[in-house]
Amino acid sequence: MTEDLIKQMELDKLPKHIAIIMDGNGRWARKRFLPRTAGHKAGVDKVKEIVQTVGDLGIKYLTLYAFSTENWNRPKEEIESLMKLLLYYIRSELKTLHKNEVRIQVIGDISQIQTLPRKEILRAVEMTKNNNKLILNIALNYGGRSELVRAAKLFAKDVKDGRLDINSIDEESFKQYLYTGSQPDPDLLIRPSGELRISNFLLYQIAYSEFWFSNIYWPDFSKKHLYQAIIDFQQRDRRYGGIKDDE
Ligand code: FPP
Repeated sequence: MTEDLIKQMELDKLPKHIAIIMDGNGRWARKRFLPRTAGHKAGVDKVKEIVQTVGDLGIKYLTLYAFSTENWNRPKEEIESLMKLLLYYIRSELKTLHKNEVRIQVIGDISQIQTLPRKEILRAVEMTKNNNKLILNIALNYGGRSELVRAAKLFAKDVKDGRLDINSIDEESFKQYLYTGSQPDPDLLIRPSGELRISNFLLYQIAYSEFWFSNIYWPDFSKKHLYQAIIDFQQRDRRYGGIKDDE
């Protein structure tokens, strides 16, 4: 089955950047009469599988929504459990990620993240900073609107301090003020779990992304679904507001 899907993929037409909203951990757990944290734990296993698969395909950018600015509204125990899982993920995977030339980057305001996970993440960022095979952006305390406000502030400061002429700013140079800087925009945005919304994720960057939604919960998401999402993406007609050559 998986082999059949690999054969259907056009390996010279892969997306350069995939972004994923890893949703449905809680519902996956509830269906099994398990605590929500069990769903997040199962979700981490999927992070491992998908990071490996994306790397194996030679896709250069992967952005994962791990914790949003709105997730602070969850019960304290759940937030703590998510931070612990993040810590566990970095501790258990860092060696492998580094060996596989994965560069870990964080997008979001991590100054508010607890000291221990924050330090561990910064260590991973530092250790992997010269890797270039796969850029793994972990969105942590991330919100698309707050990213845009932050970018506007940085931009205003550069103008105020005389480093930038206000007339020189355009869409491309404004992009440099975002966490994702000069990275290509996601070609493909995946959201499992049945929700059909963006939830404040990469608002500027997804202007022309292709969306792939599915009813399965993130802990059930496997490489098979990733391949299917890529195959579907390859069949989309991306016109960027233009028309096809033969029309
Ligand atoms: C959404 O499911 C998922 C999250 C808020 C957290 C995602 C985090 C992980 C998978 C683990 C840590 C991440 C990394 C990168 C190691 P939900 O809880 O909103 O599910 P529900 O909508 O079914 O309740």
